[in-house]
Amino acid sequence: MPQESSVIGKDITRVDGVMKVAGAAKYGVEYSLENMAWGVGVGSTIGSGKIVSIDSSEAEKMPGVLAILHHGNTQKLYRPANSFEDNSRPGESRPPFEDDQVYYYGQFVALVVADTFERAQEAAFRVVVKYDARKPDVSTNELTPKDPPSIKNERGDVDSALGSGAVKLDVTYTTPVETHNPMEMHATIASWTKDKLTLYETSQGVVNHRNCAAEVLAIPLESIEVISRFIGSGFGSKLFPWPHSWMAALASKQLGRPVKISVPRSMMFTTVGHRPFTRQRIQHEIFQPTSMIADYVENCAEVTSMLYSCPNLRAIQYLIHKNIGTPTPMRGPGRTPSLFAIESSMDELAVKLNLDPIEVRLRNYAETDEGSKRPFSSKHLREAYQTGAEKFGWSQRNPKVGSMTKGNEILGWGMATCTWPAGRHNAEVRVSLLADGTARAVCATQDIGTGTYTIFAAVVCDRTGIPLDKIRVQLGDTALPPGPTSGGSSATSTVLPAIVKATDQAVSEVLRLAALTAGSPFEKADPKSLKMTGGRVHRQDQSPESGVPFPDILNLRRLSGLDGQAKTEAPPEAKQYSMHSFGAHFCEVAYDPGIARLRVSRWLTVIDGGRMINLKTSRNQILGAVVMGIGMALFEETIYDPRNGKPVNNNFADYIVTVNADAPEMDCIFLDYPDTKLNEYGARGIGEIGLTGCASAIANATYHATGVRVRELPIRIENLL
Ligand code: MOS
Repeated sequence: MPQESSVIGKDITRVDGVMKVAGAAKYGVEYSLENMAWGVGVGSTIGSGKIVSIDSSEAEKMPGVLAILHHGNTQKLYRPANSFEDNSRPGESRPPFEDDQVYYYGQFVALVVADTFERAQEAAFRVVVKYDARKPDVSTNELTPKDPPSIKNERGDVDSALGSGAVKLDVTYTTPVETHNPMEMHATIASWTKDKLTLYETSQGVVNHRNCAAEVLAIPLESIEVISRFIGSGFGSKLFPWPHSWMAALASKQLGRPVKISVPRSMMFTTVGHRPFTRQRIQHEIFQPTSMIADYVENCAEVTSMLYSCPNLRAIQYLIHKNIGTPTPMRGPGRTPSLFAIESSMDELAVKLNLDPIEVRLRNYAETDEGSKRPFSSKHLREAYQTGAEKFGWSQRNPKVGSMTKGNEILGWGMATCTWPAGRHNAEVRVSLLADGTARAVCATQDIGTGTYTIFAAVVCDRTGIPLDKIRVQLGDTALPPGPTSGGSSATSTVLPAIVKATDQAVSEVLRLAALTAGSPFEKADPKSLKMTGGRVHRQDQSPESGVPFPDILNLRRLSGLDGQAKTEAPPEAKQYSMHSFGAHFCEVAYDPGIARLRVSRWLTVIDGGRMINLKTSRNQILGAVVMGIGMALFEETIYDPRNGKPVNNNFADYIVTVNADAPEMDCIFLDYPDTKLNEYGARGIGEIGLTGCASAIANATYHATGVRVRELPIRIENLL
């Protein structure tokens, strides 16, 4: 039962915050196991071709070298079933060392294992690989689809509607390859003991990782434990396991000792995914490269069918295979690049029609989801536009290009819609109320830095009144009851119902025993007449102070604790609704024409995201996403060398991400409309929505300031000169 003085919806400080600041939170790479060896991967230096020979003789003679693994000398690995629904999806289906083929630059062709990192690194430089190289195909100018479209959404009669339209807009937008750059780099420590494999990982889905490992290595699920207690973010690159994890497992098995592989930043540009390039022509035709060995679809067509009211619509997407590493979801996959095109084109339409950009969106407002033909479970986008316009001062906007100035700078004001789907999956949670007055909640989901530990504690606190600092949460270990992947902004909405049910069960058990136990102040009472408030058991019609602390009941029974365990899944009724979060970004850019300097100078986002469980971390997610959106609009782009397919800017000096100096004064407002069709708290996820729409808001503001419409991200100085 929710407590009156609940923490829900307030600013809750992360329960793991002190541990993190004090350095007590241990990340995957930080474990040090006895007799541990180090592995360093050797990446291919060609973008396409095959391995002719691997000469490891010199490397083998180096001090401390224990093994050199490659396709010619290792045990074969298997390809996993690759099912997202069954939680067995790898980042890349092809296991390392499968054969002599090279599909992209940086593909692992060998692994050197030594007793120290430095010795492994030194020896890795001395492995001589000879290739039969072909010219790699990495061009994004050449995007000729060979296969039928991977997605086709169509309604109405598009061709005649295009012919008869009063205003026509036929424009093409592109978004570049972007590379995930979480603060914590990828790493694996694999440790076999007898028949058990333990993997210390940095993973957004320990259960999925474990299931994949079982299939790749062909060993039972029960003999694998994946541990990922703290994660320095992932942005999607850690959703699915990548080849280095299997290399560590192979090496550890072969050597009979733990093996650690830490993936350096440069290799994170090749072997752990990226957001693919997109070329999008409105009405919506999408061309998207993927790797030679995976049909990864960055679904840009999905949002097109539901965002605006539109009787005639076509959204069609083609995949083109290229010699680049395998793409993977990156924060807001599909909708983020898609909304750059759609929300920029809405702005172009507004300019053509001489209408306010908000007005164009209101005139095309979708009251229902016209794609799936279902009502929205809860949509307050109109209010998001209105609230944002009011707080930003939108009515002061002079629509004339370049008309608003401040000192030497020209100001531009732009806005864009943002949206992300809401979903819910399966989760199992165990909550224990313990005789020392504390509680414990456990689940094999993980906290990727978004605040999942705190969500667990907040809900247990809400249901029992036990204070936050007396609630211990354990996550990130497949030994615990199975929980969801932290992806698709669905972890919070997924785990909430299971925490509620498990906690309520544990409380019911305490109340049942309170009524059943000789010597209890509630002996022979109807358990239904009892409740727990502030951690105290009492009669419903009397005050909590009249009752006793719950450990008293446990102590009477000589019990160390009582458990509740619950498994929940998405309610079937949810299928009747189209569930999405919505919002609006309002942005100001300042352009100094004298030195061609463009900065984002002010930002406001309004989010209709259901009920926020923790206001503090919610705000953190939205503002963090906007900072990332500034990077997408102005800086981020992975550039490949056409000669060998190497990402040339594979480091923080050359791949530019937003820093503090680029981040303006920012604010965000949450509309408070709980989506009760989704779960009992009405909470949706908000990890991704903040990034969608950002880049178009900035491009629209840039047009307003400069009159230059940039349709190719990122926006560069040379576009504006
Ligand atoms: Mo997110 S791209 O589902 O980590």
